Formats: sequence, structure tokens, C-alpha cells
Amino acid sequence: MSKKKVLVAGGGGFIGGHLAARLLKDGFDVRCVDVKPMDEWYQVFDEAENIVADLKDRHACDEACHGVDDVYNLAADMGGMGFIENNKALCMLSVLINTHLLQAAQKEGVKRFFYASSACVYNAEKQVNEDVIPLKEEDAYPAMPEDGYGWEKLFSERMCRHFREDYGLRTRVARFHNVYGPYGTWEGGREKAPAAVCRKVIHAKETGATEIEIWGDGKQTRSFMYIDDCVKGILAIMDSDILEPINLGSDEIVTINGLSDLVEDIAGVKLKRTHNLSAPKGVNGRNSDNTKIMQYLGWAPGIKLREGMAKTYDWILGEYQAKYAATASK
Ligand code: NAD
Ligand code: GDD
Repeated sequence: MSKKKVLVAGGGGFIGGHLAARLLKDGFDVRCVDVKPMDEWYQVFDEAENIVADLKDRHACDEACHGVDDVYNLAADMGGMGFIENNKALCMLSVLINTHLLQAAQKEGVKRFFYASSACVYNAEKQVNEDVIPLKEEDAYPAMPEDGYGWEKLFSERMCRHFREDYGLRTRVARFHNVYGPYGTWEGGREKAPAAVCRKVIHAKETGATEIEIWGDGKQTRSFMYIDDCVKGILAIMDSDILEPINLGSDEIVTINGLSDLVEDIAGVKLKRTHNLSAPKGVNGRNSDNTKIMQYLGWAPGIKLREGMAKTYDWILGEYQAKYAATASK
């Protein structure tokens, strides 16, 4: 029997790379497509079919979906708060990727389609306080998502729903809450808080600095999901009968100051903090209500923040030293 063929759109990125690794391990025939030149992909697997193409283009989507059973759409122009607050048009243009992939999937007879949505779809009024009530799926409406990026995600969720209802394409949608881990973006402007704080602490330690900058007052809250939990959740949601968008995130809430304490503890340093109150901050509080995913799939995050951050810190330390030791020796 021939192997099932799957497309990982955005396979050169953080989550796409980890997902491709797992799908290959599970015996799938994997096609990865990403717009970045291949030497910039976070992970490249020789066993996969690797293609550089812009999935905003409809023709590229047709080719990417040709002969494929399942599509995982992880491709988007995205990043942490520093990126999404300053690149709203670019974020919204990702609508072309999901729209054209859905059209191509329908045309090519794809069996199942996964879309990576975000906790940024949730109504801002539900995220005003730091001691936020964990967000339930119904809190996305009435709609008041994150400007730019969140609106694109909410619209694309609905496109998935209507392709399912009108054309019978089997779509599944997960709302990821901040995902972190090795092989994620850790510098350059798109990095999220877990990687950014690791990099800042490492930089201070390596250069003998005594201070780091934290965006906001540090009292804002988030939950962070380790990448291995995320990949397990994606596969479970794709295999499930869950029709509506569902949370996929950790419910271990932490302040950004708490996250910084944790990283300093892992690094074995104590640093002074300056708080940049004009830096991009996003909502004051965000946490995932996991009642639904627990009920439907028995899924709960298995990796505690401390354990995941220790692994992430070690990986970023290696990357930092490899990059800056190489620069210093030139
Ligand atoms: P990432 O930036 O590492 O990966 C996305 C990949 O998509 C990148 O490699 C990028 O080059 C590629 N891409 C962008 N435009 C493309 C195009 N036109 N054609 C082909 N490829 C294109 O991000 P990630 O963290 O792996 O996120 C994956 C998905 O999950 C995205 O849809 C993102 O919005 C969503 N998400 C991620 C998080 C998180 O915390 N990482 C949270 C919520 C939602
Ligand atoms: N990125 C970053 N860098 N954030 C920092 C830093 C820093 O150096 N210092 C403090 N922060 C604060 C931000 O101001 C924000 O209040 C909080 O840490 C979390 O920032 P991010 O990790 O960048 O993003 P987010 O949690 O607000 O949103 C992310 O998660 C969503 C899903 O939950 C983004 O990645 C979205 O794209 C994603 O959809």
C-alpha cells in the first residue's frame, strides 16, 4: 500500500519543521513548502520533498496540493508582538495563503485540511485584566480580535468553515496559544517573549552586562505551550471530529516578570530589569481554557514551563554561541 502523502505548508518554519519531523517519523510521505530560501529553513529533512514557493500564489498552491491526501497549513507572515503590531498589512496578506490553499485543496481532492489559527482571535475586552479568566472558544465573538493579524486569523477560520459546509472539504482549526521551543525564531524581530527573554539573558551573561530590557511593566500574563505538546495536539485535532475552532495551548499562566525570573534562574544569574513602557505589549492577560480539548480528546499539555524553558534556553545558548563566536573569530 502506498504511503499517505501530506503537505506541510510553512514547513521551513518553527511549528511546520517540528510537525514534518513527526509526520516523517510516523511513516508519511511529506511535502514541505515554504517561501524562504532553503538555507533559511529552520529544519530540512532529506527524506521529505522540499519546495521553495510562494503560497500566496494560486498556481503554487495547486502544485503544492497535487497528489496530496492531507494539508497542514502552518504558513503565515507572523511573529511576536514586535512584528504583528508593526506589520499589519503583511500579516493580513496571509489571507491569500489560506484562501488559495483551500481552493487548491478542493480542486485537487484533498481529504483533510488543518488550519493554524491563534489566540489573537479572542475579543480584546476579555483580555483587559492580568488576572484574566481563561479564554473559552465562544469568547471570539462578538468579534474584536487583535488588529491586523487577529482579523486575518478569524476570517480564515470562517473560510475553513464555509469550505467545509459548502464544499464538503474536511477542515479542522486549532487556536494556538503562544508556542515556544528549540528551532523557533530567537532574534531578528519576529521572536516571541520566551525566546526573546532567553536571548537577552544569554547576551547579558556572555557580555558581562548586568541589565536587560523587558517590554511593558512585566505584570502582563500569558501561557506558553511547548512545541512537542503542540505537535501532538495538531495531530489529534486533525484526526478528530471537532468541527469548530478549538484552543490548543497551555493553561499554566505566568507573568512576563515570572517568565524572566525563571530564565534567570535557569541561567544562574540575577539581572536588573528596565521596563520599556512604549514597546509593543498586546493584551494585558491571556490564558487558555482547556475544558473542550480535554473533554473531546483527553489532551492536556504534558510539559511544564520550567522544563520546556530549560530545553529552549539550552538550544538558544548553542545558537547564540555558534553565531557570535563565529562572528568574533572573523
Ligand atoms: P514561523 O514564522 O516559524 O513559520 C511560518 C512559515 O511560513 C515561515 O517559515 C514562513 O517563511 C512561511 N511563509 C510565510 N509566507 C509564506 C508564503 N507566502 N508561502 C509559503 N510559506 C510562507 O511561524 P510558526 O511559529 O511556525 O507558526 C506557524 C503557524 O502557527 C502560523 O500560521 C502562525 O500564525 C500560527 N501560530 C503560531 C503561534 C506561535 O506561538 N508560534 C501562535 C499562534 C498561531
Ligand atoms: N516579543 C517580545 N520580546 N515580547 C516581550 C519582550 C521581548 O523582548 N519583553 C516583554 N515582552 C512581552 C510583550 O510585550 C507581550 O506583552 C508579552 O511579552 C508576550 O509577547 P509575545 O510573546 O511577543 O506575543 P503575545 O503572547 O502577545 O502574542 C503571541 O502569541 C499569539 C498566540 O497566543 C504572538 O506570537 C502572536 O503572533 C500569537 O498568535
